Amino acid sequence: MSFQIDVITLFPELIEQAAQYGVTGRAKENHLWQLKTWNPREFTHDPYRTVDDRPYGGGPGMVMLAEPLKEAILAAKARQREQGVGQPKVIFLSPQGALLTHQRAVELSTTPGLILLSARYEGVDQRLIDRYVDEEISIGEYVLSGGELPALVLMDAVVRQIPGVLGDSRSVEQESFVTQWLDTPHYTRPEVFEDMAVPPVLLSGHHAHIERWRHEQAVIKTWQKRPDMLARQPLSGDDKKIVESLIAQQLNKEQ
Ligand SMILES: C[S@@+](CC[C@H](N)C(=O)[O-])C[C@H]1O[C@@H](n2cnc3c(N)ncnc32)[C@H](O)[C@@H]1O
Repeated sequence: MSFQIDVITLFPELIEQAAQYGVTGRAKENHLWQLKTWNPREFTHDPYRTVDDRPYGGGPGMVMLAEPLKEAILAAKARQREQGVGQPKVIFLSPQGALLTHQRAVELSTTPGLILLSARYEGVDQRLIDRYVDEEISIGEYVLSGGELPALVLMDAVVRQIPGVLGDSRSVEQESFVTQWLDTPHYTRPEVFEDMAVPPVLLSGHHAHIERWRHEQAVIKTWQKRPDMLARQPLSGDDKKIVESLIAQQLNKEQ
């Protein structure tokens, strides 16, 4: 059984088009995951195919109707059941949700199926969220015009964690946020670009030295760019020494 994702959106083509590219597109072609989109307009029963209405109590903008979204969610659940997924998780992409993290993406990749609800306008009737949504996820503290880009971000972050999606599983292990370190810097040809040479250790062929250098660089980058990540876990032996020497260098510069 491959990983199942259903997306409920007023712009299904946007999701389907974007899902064709790169690593995740190839993984879909290889049946490592399956995508199905549902347009809530297909679940309306009036001649205008209405999916939104004015908010009770007044105020700006429109609110997405609960009924077509409910029917779309039930249709997605029925499809996932046919694929062998008993309890897909229904996620509403919302700026009010918990911030998406690497950890959450990994956890979601171990569930068999997701139903992603992307809204437009001012959002969705609260009663739909209260009854049919399991979790709300935000991709950042800003408001976008719709949930399609957030759904694509979540899909990409989750799908690349599915075993077999990345050709070399070490790619997943080395990435930023997998540990408390950011990724190490990468270099490729040419050996000299403008006046900048590739660090000699990478040309040495000495694997232990290369590994050690890469780890040191990851520690340095993390300390420079995301010191908050260092504070999450106590530093061990060598890492502690690297960070202490960075702090000493900085203090020297400041004096
Ligand atoms: C214009 S927004 C509505 C924002 C809502 N009125 C609020 O302030 O919380 C329309 C839809 O875009 C999606 N969206 C916007 N920003 C998002 C974010 N940062 N993360 C996840 N989804 C987002 C959600 O599906 C949202 O319902």
